[in-house]
Amino acid sequence: MKTGVVDGLWQGIKYRGGTGHLAFIGHRLAGLGTLLFLIIHVTETSAVYFNPQFYADVVARYQHPVFMLGEIGLVAAVLFHGLNGLKIIAFDWKPDLWSPEREQLWSLVVFGATFALWLPAAFVMGRSLYLHSILMEPAPAAVTPEQVGTGWANVAVILLVAAGLIVAFAASARPGSGRQAAIKPTLETRMWMFMRYSGVLLIPLAYGHVMIKDILHGVHLINLAYVDLYWRFLGWRIYDAALLSFALAHGAYGLKQVSEDYVHAPLRLRFTKYAILAAWLIITAMGAIALVGGVGATLS
Ligand code: HEM
Repeated sequence: MKTGVVDGLWQGIKYRGGTGHLAFIGHRLAGLGTLLFLIIHVTETSAVYFNPQFYADVVARYQHPVFMLGEIGLVAAVLFHGLNGLKIIAFDWKPDLWSPEREQLWSLVVFGATFALWLPAAFVMGRSLYLHSILMEPAPAAVTPEQVGTGWANVAVILLVAAGLIVAFAASARPGSGRQAAIKPTLETRMWMFMRYSGVLLIPLAYGHVMIKDILHGVHLINLAYVDLYWRFLGWRIYDAALLSFALAHGAYGLKQVSEDYVHAPLRLRFTKYAILAAWLIITAMGAIALVGGVGATLS
């Protein structure tokens, strides 16, 4: 006899729902994969404050081809999850537009758009992997303070303005063609809305971060001095704080939702939810302390 978790997973795999079902599985796996990476990434980045030497050792390991291949996969996951998330949000906004056929069609569009966006990114990152981690050619010149302080700072401001506009729009909009008006909001319904608002907000925040750090700059440029330089500009700290809080809260609540699908024993489920809540608080606090404290002792 299968346990609740295994049975739940098995039912999910054997269900024959076509492209829409594939998109559902892809969305879930990509969301969980991104969350796993985010947890590792925030923990390791917070070491710039708590233990800079540890941070320097860890980021040097990211230049290994295996990690770089994982990073190329991560870009695909973030792209897919974000685009498919927009598809979900759009149908939630206008449920009258949803039909099984449209779900299949738009899932195909999402798969195609993900591939089209991922291909050039994979080329740039694959090229860097080949040149600097296999042929061992010297890494490109480091990012200069001028670039961070002028050109890239403008990017941070543009992305933050985009995020602000989204918040303003979200605050004034009502989803679901007015149907929800009669429903009294509960914590569950508010969190349902939060998953959608934060999802839209994460498009400029997460896509911008991935584009700059993973694709345009890449792991060969990233070290303690790089983080130190970036965080001298307040705009980037605010940007990273927004990304940290929204991405972690969105991912943690998503994980709670996923756990409800697979963990059925009430006590085990309650324990799982408290564990997720505790992990979310601890990791967010670590990231926030590092963002405020900046690069620790060895550089200053
Ligand atoms: C890039 C923009 C993003 C968009 C547009 C987006 C959108 C969404 C949407 C609409 C949902 C479904 C919520 C529901 O069914 O109630 C969702 C779930 C989820 N998201 Fe995101 N998200 C984004 C980024 C992220 C990031 C950065 C993470 C990781 C930290 C993440 C992790 C998750 C998880 C774990 C779930 C639950 C998956 C499930 O229920 O199958 N998402 N997202």
